[in-house]
Amino acid sequence: MNELLRRLLFLPEQASEHARQVDALHYFVILTTMIGAAGVFLAATWFFVRYRRRSDRDTTPQVEPKAIHEILFIGGPLALFVLWFAIGFPQYVSLSLPPADAMDVYVQGKKWMWKFAYPGGPNAIDTLRVPAGRPVRLLITSRDVIHSFYVPALRIKMDALPGRYTQTWFNASRPGRYEIFCAEYCGLSHSSMLGELVVMPAEDFDAWMTRQRSGLAAAQDAAPVPGERVRPASSVVEEGRRVAAE
Ligand code: CUA
Repeated sequence: MNELLRRLLFLPEQASEHARQVDALHYFVILTTMIGAAGVFLAATWFFVRYRRRSDRDTTPQVEPKAIHEILFIGGPLALFVLWFAIGFPQYVSLSLPPADAMDVYVQGKKWMWKFAYPGGPNAIDTLRVPAGRPVRLLITSRDVIHSFYVPALRIKMDALPGRYTQTWFNASRPGRYEIFCAEYCGLSHSSMLGELVVMPAEDFDAWMTRQRSGLAAAQDAAPVPGERVRPASSVVEEGRRVAAE
């Protein structure tokens, strides 16, 4: 059912539990409103025929609605809206509150690329690697204008604002590659401000991270030159990250 509706509505694949929940609410809203619209259309057609004007002397009778009809016609749609809110608001709250054990990744938008930085290294441009099945928190900012970090498959979209951090989080359910877009018009190459989310099996991600960091450590070992003051390791790592980012 989920798969059928997803295809019917041309929605991208669902790469997280959050995506499935958002879609479930979307199906519910769209199905109830479609059924409601069809009901209104059928009733209107029936009324056109049943209550058509039969002669020039036909007058419209005065209709006094009963209280029960008023209650039904106001209460029905109101109940639906309240129900949608009752489902959607907890989804919004859960998306706004990253779990405490989430892995942090810094995301920086810049005309016209996405930069990713893992605390302690490494850095990357346009490719965000994350482990499957683990929560990831994104701390998002921009170096110039307003961008918007958008991953359709995760159903997340968050503005990247200069001079301030925004955050969102996700837990990708299985390995795969997903598109990243910029969803805020930011200049000439807005449409090519693309990235890729690579969800790796957790073990592969850990191995990749270890390799990346040992590469940084090797650069660090090679750093001291005879006679030069040995700098604390953290500043070398910082420099490595800066160089990698440029
Ligand atoms: Cu960045 Cu549009």
